[in-house]
Amino acid sequence: MTTLPDDFFRFVCQTSPEPLAIEIERAHGCIIVDRRGREYLDLLSGIGAASLGHTHPAVVSAIKDQAGRYLHAMVYGEYIQEPQVRLARRLAEVAPAPLSVTYFTNSGTEAVEGALKTARKYTGRSRFVSFTGGFHGDTFGSLSVGGNPLYRLPFEPLLPTVTFLPFNDLDALERIDETAAAVIVEPVQGEGGVRIPSDEFLPALRQRCSTVGALLIFDEVITGFGRTGRLFACEHWRVVPDILVLAKALGGGMPLGAFMSTPEILATLSTDPPLAHVTTFGGHPVCCAAGLASLETILRDNLPQQARTKGEEFLGKLQTLLGTGGFTNVRGRGLLIGMDFTTPEATKHFAQSCFAAGLILGWTLHQDTVIRLAPPLIISSAEIDRAIATMRDVLRGSNSS
Ligand SMILES: Cc1ncc(COP(=O)(O)O)c(C=O)c1O
Repeated sequence: MTTLPDDFFRFVCQTSPEPLAIEIERAHGCIIVDRRGREYLDLLSGIGAASLGHTHPAVVSAIKDQAGRYLHAMVYGEYIQEPQVRLARRLAEVAPAPLSVTYFTNSGTEAVEGALKTARKYTGRSRFVSFTGGFHGDTFGSLSVGGNPLYRLPFEPLLPTVTFLPFNDLDALERIDETAAAVIVEPVQGEGGVRIPSDEFLPALRQRCSTVGALLIFDEVITGFGRTGRLFACEHWRVVPDILVLAKALGGGMPLGAFMSTPEILATLSTDPPLAHVTTFGGHPVCCAAGLASLETILRDNLPQQARTKGEEFLGKLQTLLGTGGFTNVRGRGLLIGMDFTTPEATKHFAQSCFAAGLILGWTLHQDTVIRLAPPLIISSAEIDRAIATMRDVLRGSNSS
């Protein structure tokens, strides 16, 4: 008789040598409960996806209602599906003008693929520009514009026409020229270690793209829907991209991605040839129903504002821990927070010890001296205090394992 963990390691494709392998029983709010009844405080939200917290009642109810009406009925773009149309309309109301048309996908990386293809077809140019440290997904196009060579090299050859520029470097923007179809950027780099650009960088990038006629793509897969203290991070810099890429929190816990743009730019996908870019499951009615319920809750409860105040609270409390256990620096925007450590070993030790003490936080090889925190935006002050107390114990060595 094999156990579930045995079967997990044997039958489910493994993507890392040391998965956390929590045997998850249920999840609610900021809490994940394993099969032995142990509770974990989730400071990662499934890497920024569960912004409303786990199994929010509004989302669960919308899923149940829609599942009882209809599931998949037809490939994308043919039938009028109410949840999809209503979500697209709501997104047009809250996204910066003139971004008013949405193409739905199943995931973030598919949305990036769609955005890149749209830019090529619309401009008739082939080159893409992206930034070192950027992450845009793991399919071929998205990986081609990913700014970490460690993850590109094993899969080369990728798209040949990509120029990588240093992130947050104003002088480097001169290298964007008339051969560029698009420039893709995360307004705050997530996987790259929560890197926040200067006040000037994104406005200057917008200016440069407009000057040379390249489309500006903002990848807000991780920063979207209030995570950084605004509904969309681009609002911090008052910069409007030509294409806005969304996923993660968009689906309220269901798989959903999207790219938004102007009617003129997205019209390119329906001609020469028609059906230039289609998907079977993109914009699935159940996922869109969940996404709509999630968006309405985010707006009603003013979660961007909550992310701002709780982010400041969390950051302030983390600052009191600086200087212990190799923890050297901390920064954040809203509830997207990066903690710097002196070495990869100190970082890994911190992540593992916190996990042993019941805290889930983010540590990946993409940036191995940074711990990422992206808790649900509904996290309470008591939960922040619990996290800080555990981290303090771990950093002082009293809880290290
Ligand atoms: C900024 C960014 N873009 C794109 C992606 C890819 O999204 P997905 O995993 O849904 O394909 C991610 C995933 O972490 C991301 O953080």
